[in-house]
Amino acid sequence: MTNTYARIAGTGSYLPEKIVTNADLEKIVDTNDAWIVERTGIKQRHIAADGQLTCDMAEMAARRAIESAGIDPQAIDLIIIGTTTPDKFFPSTATLLQERLGIFGCPAFDIQAVCTGFIYGLSIADKFIRTGAAKNALVIGADIFSRIIDWTDRNTCVLFGDGAGAVVLSADDKKGILSTHLYADGRHHEQLHVPGYVKGGKVQAGNAFASMQGMEVFKFAVNNMAHAAEEALKINGLKTDDVDWLIPHQANKRILSAVAKKLKFPEEKVIVTVDKHGNTSAASVPLALDTAVRDGRIKRGDMLLLEAMGGGFTWGSALIKY
Ligand code: ACO
Repeated sequence: MTNTYARIAGTGSYLPEKIVTNADLEKIVDTNDAWIVERTGIKQRHIAADGQLTCDMAEMAARRAIESAGIDPQAIDLIIIGTTTPDKFFPSTATLLQERLGIFGCPAFDIQAVCTGFIYGLSIADKFIRTGAAKNALVIGADIFSRIIDWTDRNTCVLFGDGAGAVVLSADDKKGILSTHLYADGRHHEQLHVPGYVKGGKVQAGNAFASMQGMEVFKFAVNNMAHAAEEALKINGLKTDDVDWLIPHQANKRILSAVAKKLKFPEEKVIVTVDKHGNTSAASVPLALDTAVRDGRIKRGDMLLLEAMGGGFTWGSALIKY
């Protein structure tokens, strides 16, 4: 009997039209381009238009991924969206997307693992496909963090942007996802969170803006993303040299570089897109993946190592034969 793998059949992504540069931010908070570039590597971010919702961006990325997979949308039998900024409290953004795509009946749900949402979604879809419960899964990371950012807080507003990325995973007897590794440690939930909750239609117990203890997040991110990546290599009996591309969560260039250094991974094999769109939360890994697939760096047969970390804390990795 042959094994069934979940293989990346297609990728897609979407960034909103509006670009906000560091120079634009200098006009609204006490910051400057040199500080932002030196501490984060971010030069600009894309911001969703008024009225544009997470599902709008997810749909654009999904249609591009379906087109690149060359399959009929009706063949999709599982939809998972990693998002922290759903269109509505309920139902899930995945069900809203299902209506847009005209695919009815298959399971559709959102995953809340903040910036690790795409890796969590990938891991779940992999298990559906390996067990025969799905044949073509649409896995998306999409977020509009600009809606939960306090644009007067320079500690956070310089870091984030909006976007969406997607993959179609298809059942195949050729190797695809080799393994995924998910982790969480809820003791850290207050180091990166939105404190407020809604009761009686109003925000209670604080505000509804993202709040972060930057240095703690930084240290945890470096150690744990590196650990997740090492686990993926160890379990598959591979070494850093066997990997063609490291595709990290695009949080911050300094975090990306520190993880690569810990893994002894040469910088030229790390996909970096954070300079162009900032931290897009769950969208960041599939955005970076799609960028490097479309510009020709990532080729069929390449070994990819994906890693991410987000609020909770949650973190994880995936090792994939593309
Ligand atoms: N512009 C100018 N100065 C600033 C800004 C800003 N936007 N923000 C802070 N500063 C100032 C501070 O007030 C401080 O001034 P002081 O020395 O007079 O008190 C000084 O810069 C240094 O501040 P620190 O917070 O110590 O700066 P640090 O070197 O820690 O860098 C940063 C801050 C970039 C946020 C860093 O901690 C970091 O990258 N953390 C990780 C955050 C992250 O990526 N979060 C994303 C979500 S988590 C994830 O996706 C993995």
